[in-house]
Amino acid sequence: MDELRHAGRLAADVTADYLGGVGDRPVWQPVTEADRDWLTRQDLPSAGRPLSDLVHDIRTRVLPYPMGNGHPRFFGWVNSAPSAAGVLVAPIAAALNPSCAGGDHAGVLLEHTVLRWLADLAGFPHRTGGGLLTSGASMATVVALAAARRRAADRDGADVRADGLYGRPPMVLYVSAEGHSCLRKAAELLGLGSRHVRVVPVDGAFRMDAGALRDMVARDARAGLRPFCVAASAGTVNTGAVDALDEIADVAAAHGLWFHVDGAYGALGALTAPGGYAGMARADSLVLDPHKWLGVPVDCGCVLWRDPVPVRATFSLVPAYLRDDDEDGPGWFSEYGPEQTRPLRALRTWATMSHLGRDGIVRLVGTTVRLAHTLAAMIGAAPDFELLAPVSTSIVAFRYRPAGPPDRLDDLNRRIPAAVQHRGRAFLTGTRLAGTEALRACLLNPATTEDDLALLLDEIRAAATGRAAEIRP
Ligand SMILES: Cc1ncc(COP(=O)(O)O)c(C=O)c1O
Repeated sequence: MDELRHAGRLAADVTADYLGGVGDRPVWQPVTEADRDWLTRQDLPSAGRPLSDLVHDIRTRVLPYPMGNGHPRFFGWVNSAPSAAGVLVAPIAAALNPSCAGGDHAGVLLEHTVLRWLADLAGFPHRTGGGLLTSGASMATVVALAAARRRAADRDGADVRADGLYGRPPMVLYVSAEGHSCLRKAAELLGLGSRHVRVVPVDGAFRMDAGALRDMVARDARAGLRPFCVAASAGTVNTGAVDALDEIADVAAAHGLWFHVDGAYGALGALTAPGGYAGMARADSLVLDPHKWLGVPVDCGCVLWRDPVPVRATFSLVPAYLRDDDEDGPGWFSEYGPEQTRPLRALRTWATMSHLGRDGIVRLVGTTVRLAHTLAAMIGAAPDFELLAPVSTSIVAFRYRPAGPPDRLDDLNRRIPAAVQHRGRAFLTGTRLAGTEALRACLLNPATTEDDLALLLDEIRAAATGRAAEIRP
């Protein structure tokens, strides 16, 4: 263990130096040819190498080429900086290396606590057996929709586990035009067919049109299809919009649909703007990713559900060698999802949440929402930028609109994200919004400053006009 102790100290220093200096380095930089060659073409050494040599390789060949999240001027997709507490305990989780499929050990017990804490933060009803940590929202969504499919089939007197979907009227899932692509992926994976995923239009604030939903469900039912689930969003990936969850819950209740809420990114926004999330607690399932706004190091997604029974009935398959003799308990986590061996995600999540405390989590959400409003105000005041959506969480959707012919704007805005990224001083990504090419900045890092936001806008101008990167004082 002396070798591990020595190399571990080196690794701790390398980690702290890396995190301490993130803001002073390029957000992203291209990989040199020599390092690309090393990263992609190295041979497996025949003789093993000392641990401290591996730390050296990581310092010189890996750490210079981050994706960019962690930097205060990273505004891309939905990727946060890692929490210090999560980084701290990751090696300890690896040292324990359990499978959290089930059993009576610390990892499993801590996962129950973390799920209760997450439900509590989101104001979601919780009882033991009411959730699962997953690799991310995509897997969490598969779990939720599988349970929804099972419950609908049960209600029709069908056994979807035994018979699949053969011979049944097609089940129909409703998502908004702004719903995340993981919903359609899950529907395809579950054999529902993307033809039976209805795309409900959105209103001017990019929220699901509940009236249109009601009409579409009624039309499908009249046509002999089987509407079974509506997936609303509590924070869309494009604009951070939160659907009118109460209204959608009413439609779901009226038509016996499973009410799913994708709050993977935005559910925690309820901590500072609870009014906007009314109805979220009525969901049958809620996805809420700790590896997004909370900053738990990847991976850690989460799905919570109101009633454990249909979820366990969907996945439980307990061979004799996995039997749990505690028949009245919630059973194993592996009975609530497709994975058997499951990593210890709870330790990183527990550490992150404990370190921040409830107050710190509220502050984190409040600070980043305020930063988003500040950026939106800067955009509103700039003659060469245009806000494309209201800010309701911590995402700002906008575009660069310099004077000139408007027919070139789409082309210009499509080219901006890559050009900004290559300059290395800020990182943002683009999207398409209501048929328009858009830029979007997702604010998740409380270390971001107003100067960083001003620099982002300058970088967009410079990237659009091809100006050389000049270093600001
Ligand atoms: C709203 C929303 N839902 C789902 C997902 C998918 O999450 P994951 O990448 O963790 O599977 C994302 C990812 O950004 C998201 O923003």
